[in-house]
Amino acid sequence: MTAKRNILVTGGLGFIGSHTVLCLNEAGYNPIIIDNLHNSKIEVLDALEELLGYRPVFVQGDVNDDALINGLFVTHRPEAVIHFAAHKAVGESVDNPLMYYQNNVVGLITLLAAMKAQDCSKMVFSSSCTVYGEPETVPVKESTPTRPAASPYGATKQMAEVILKDNNWCEVQCLRYFNPVGAHPTAKIGELPLGVPNNLIPYLTQTVAGIREKLTVYGGDYHTADGTCIRDYIHVMDLAEAHVAAIDRLFTSQRIQKVLEGDPSTDSFEVFNIGTGVGYSVLEVINAFEKATGERVNYSVGNRRAGDVVAVWADTEKVNQVLGWSAKRDLATMMKDAWNWQKNC
Ligand code: WQD
Repeated sequence: MTAKRNILVTGGLGFIGSHTVLCLNEAGYNPIIIDNLHNSKIEVLDALEELLGYRPVFVQGDVNDDALINGLFVTHRPEAVIHFAAHKAVGESVDNPLMYYQNNVVGLITLLAAMKAQDCSKMVFSSSCTVYGEPETVPVKESTPTRPAASPYGATKQMAEVILKDNNWCEVQCLRYFNPVGAHPTAKIGELPLGVPNNLIPYLTQTVAGIREKLTVYGGDYHTADGTCIRDYIHVMDLAEAHVAAIDRLFTSQRIQKVLEGDPSTDSFEVFNIGTGVGYSVLEVINAFEKATGERVNYSVGNRRAGDVVAVWADTEKVNQVLGWSAKRDLATMMKDAWNWQKNC
């Protein structure tokens, strides 16, 4: 039996990271987790142990700690890195831009320096559809020009992509997420927003659970069919499975051969839209939640939120063809799993 490949998962106790750890294990990889617990809890590790049947290697620490990161590479010799660890609240980034540049950009540079020093040259990177800004046309393709970011958070993702492209010694699968929602079907792990949620689905489920009084729909006068913004919501399990498909690609022999031969068709930096390819408005999501769960959502339509784009959803042709991946879970499943998690957490 061949030894499992170690994969370093930064931010591996976070929302998307924890679900990806499960899928990595399922695919025969050995996830090594580092997380500073800024946006997660140690209880997630207990839940992962229950789901995995063993306690995965976990190191509490920060990607900005280069001594710790170098030590991890020496100890565990990961053959690739999935880099989730970053701050991701758009509004918070406007209030505290320096914290976002330090963590999301300097943290990436520190990680890359350690990877280069330790001869690890494969990364799957967590990017975002926010790099498109307000797209002129939808659905967006990977070739759709990026627009000036609407927040420091979006700017850090754009800078990170430039840094990764320029460091072409590192083979990068860059995944631009759309809107991750839902939870593991067992409801043992899910989204853990610390404090008042910024995002629609956790705020909606906390409202139905009675933790919040009412959901405010940010704007009902946009130029869309029902006046509310449109997004591409994707089940977190589909998103996790996309990361495994990207890791698999980095280790496929024909790709390695092409890279060794300097085949121009093999870019060191490959970018993919990770969405369902379908956009839903806020009101459509609310209706889908009520239909899927039988619960009623107490909401009212209020003012627009600064920084919101009107509509963005993915063209997924490239990821379907190159990674052989497509989203499998529908909006009703996303809503059911999000609600089961809310009731359980
Ligand atoms: C969705 C829609 C709001 C809250 C997020 C992340 C970002 C990126 C993309 C990963 C918008 C509306 C929201 C509420 C509402 N993910 N809304 N009432 O802004 O698309 O961005 O996904 O990189 O990091 O922030 O997601 O869930 O905040 O908003 O009406 O209480 O729901 O106006 O139209 P967003 P969101």
